[in-house]
Amino acid sequence: MGFVLPAELATRLRAARSIGVITGAGISAESGIPTYRGKGGIYDDPEQGDRTIEALSAPTLRTDPDRAWQAIAKIAGAASGAQPNAAHHALVEIERKVERFVLLTQNVDGFHAAAGTRNLIDIHGDTFKLLCMKCGRRGDLSREPDIEPCIQTIVATGKAPRCECGGTIRPDVVFFGEMLPEAKVQRLHDEFYHRVPDVVISVGTSNMFPYIVQPVLIAAQQGRLTVEINPEETEISGYVAYHLKAKAGEALTAIAAAL
Ligand code: OAD
Repeated sequence: MGFVLPAELATRLRAARSIGVITGAGISAESGIPTYRGKGGIYDDPEQGDRTIEALSAPTLRTDPDRAWQAIAKIAGAASGAQPNAAHHALVEIERKVERFVLLTQNVDGFHAAAGTRNLIDIHGDTFKLLCMKCGRRGDLSREPDIEPCIQTIVATGKAPRCECGGTIRPDVVFFGEMLPEAKVQRLHDEFYHRVPDVVISVGTSNMFPYIVQPVLIAAQQGRLTVEINPEETEISGYVAYHLKAKAGEALTAIAAAL
């Protein structure tokens, strides 16, 4: 038998007028994308993991963009042949069914936008969106091999893409040591702190960052319904009303069906 939502949770979800969702790498695991932490994750091997974190840092991007891009290419390369899964699609259906919906994601794979989520705060950016560090021109990293700059060329050559102006192109994502984009932080505060949603659901994240944990804790403190979807325990598991130890796809499909 498939996943069954607790009856009381289904009833409480149906009464909700606003839902806020927070996602991490676990939601894309069923699309075949490796997570960051845990077995088989990008940071899994201690030595290699630390090197990846160093490569994905602001100083490396400045001094050795080829090295930074080799690490980015691994992440973007995994996402380039993959598709959004049942969990991403269920969130689009949930957005259609409630009066107010907001989705805060840490993921840079672009799957929530591709699936059709409208009110999206991609707080860490999107690897497939590009920005020239010299002239500021914006563009897209192509998933197609015949459109430049494409992920396949970067994987093959290990070279950072260059802009027509000669500048180095970077992905529009937050690197280690960089500030979060102010406008997105402002939206996060507005959607999760000033107008606390009736329900806050955290999905597939190891909850490493305070700005990911806080919206859940504030909702719990204010008596809102809080749900975590994660097969493992995390820092927030003891604070949420329901910890669904399930995969994102099955749990979110059940929630969308219950609304
Ligand atoms: P992590 O890799 O740290 O955590 C993934 C979580 O997903 C774990 O808690 C898993 O138990 C859970 N998980 C795995 N498969 C799942 C499934 N099918 N359904 C539900 N949950 C599942 O990923 P994040 O928490 O997203 O930052 O990592 C946060 C940030 O750390 C990333 O955005 C990235 C990284 O450094 C930047 O790139 C700035």
